[in-house]
Amino acid sequence: MRRRKKRVKLPSRSDAKSDVETAPIPVADEPELAPIAVPGGAAPPRARPARVPRRGGFAEYWGRIPRGLIEGFRLESLMGEGSMGAVFKAEQLSLHRPVAIKVLAPRLAENERFLKRFLREARAVAKLNHPNVVSGIDVGEADGLRYFVMEYVEGPTLLDLIEESGPLEPLAATRIVVQVARALEHASRNDLVHRDVKPANVIITSKGGVAKLCDLGLAKEVSEAGGETSEGRAMGTPLYISPEQARGDANVDIRSDLYSLGATYYHALVGRPPFDGPTHAVIMAKHLTEDVVAVRDVRDDVPAGCAAICERLLEKDRDDRHASPTELIEELEAVIEGRWEDKPKLRARRRARRRFR
Ligand SMILES: Nc1ncnc2c1ncn2[C@@H]1O[C@H](COP(=O)(O)OP(=O)(O)OP(=O)(O)O)[C@@H](O)[C@H]1O
Ligand SMILES: [Mg+2]
Repeated sequence: MRRRKKRVKLPSRSDAKSDVETAPIPVADEPELAPIAVPGGAAPPRARPARVPRRGGFAEYWGRIPRGLIEGFRLESLMGEGSMGAVFKAEQLSLHRPVAIKVLAPRLAENERFLKRFLREARAVAKLNHPNVVSGIDVGEADGLRYFVMEYVEGPTLLDLIEESGPLEPLAATRIVVQVARALEHASRNDLVHRDVKPANVIITSKGGVAKLCDLGLAKEVSEAGGETSEGRAMGTPLYISPEQARGDANVDIRSDLYSLGATYYHALVGRPPFDGPTHAVIMAKHLTEDVVAVRDVRDDVPAGCAAICERLLEKDRDDRHASPTELIEELEAVIEGRWEDKPKLRARRRARRRFR
């Protein structure tokens, strides 16, 4: 017998009173770009229009969620929609503090296998405490919708920054990437793999320019990482997907996140992701087989160290990438501190080791 799906009852338009509680939840303003202190500085931002929902109908559906849906919180505005659901800015009533709440799309809340892992990983993330990781606060279900409450970070995403100002100044990009690498080091020490590292999942705080990796623990099923599902629904972007994830390998490890971080770094350095194409399948095939255009062939003012690290992260075979975030951090710090010149010897030793494996 087909199980009846429990769905949240949204107020219909005819129910709507002028009361503020029942008025649609507004779409949040774009984060302020001007005062961001990214060390090394990206080009000055241009003015841009207010946030426009990326996909038609998103504010229409999510905006009608009751503000008091989740006990203890009050939904205030819609910050955006991704492949897994919508993110709201909300107030945690007991502490009078802002939080961000991701409400999963109903189709995901019906997938038992996904939910099991979602809960398990959300609990693991809640135990993490790291300045470069957006911390998890709570997870639960309200009216048939699953949600994840997290630290609210005020500021644009790395994608916002690139789209606004074009490629970043190389050392500014490197200072952001090293912070994400530190977040991954912390995650991997706690046996977590992100599976969806990308510029939209890195928020740069308006105060201080600290990079924070979000959506850890909200990772997708591999089959959901890119392309279309069997039912033909569009899923998350495959622009940053590792070859092993694109292949659907079951045992992806932190080196898959390192590849996605490499694709993120590439996008920040040259202003476009490493591969593009008309469909998800074409992009995934390129990650599997096509050589990436060398960073310095696209932008010749990128320092050799930045380009070498980025290209190594994008190696198809994970054994050819950095073995761990720790090794990556060491190299990025060498570039930032002007010590990259010492590195060729180290790299030659590593290459020799690989040849004899
Ligand atoms: N913790 C947070 N604090 C503040 N804003 C956030 C937070 N998490 C997400 N956002 C905002 O919400 C937007 C939507 O996030 P969401 O994760 O749904 O989309 P995405 O990252 O583009 O896609 P995906 O579902 O693949 O991760 C982000 O672009 C960001 O602006
Ligand atoms: Mg996200």
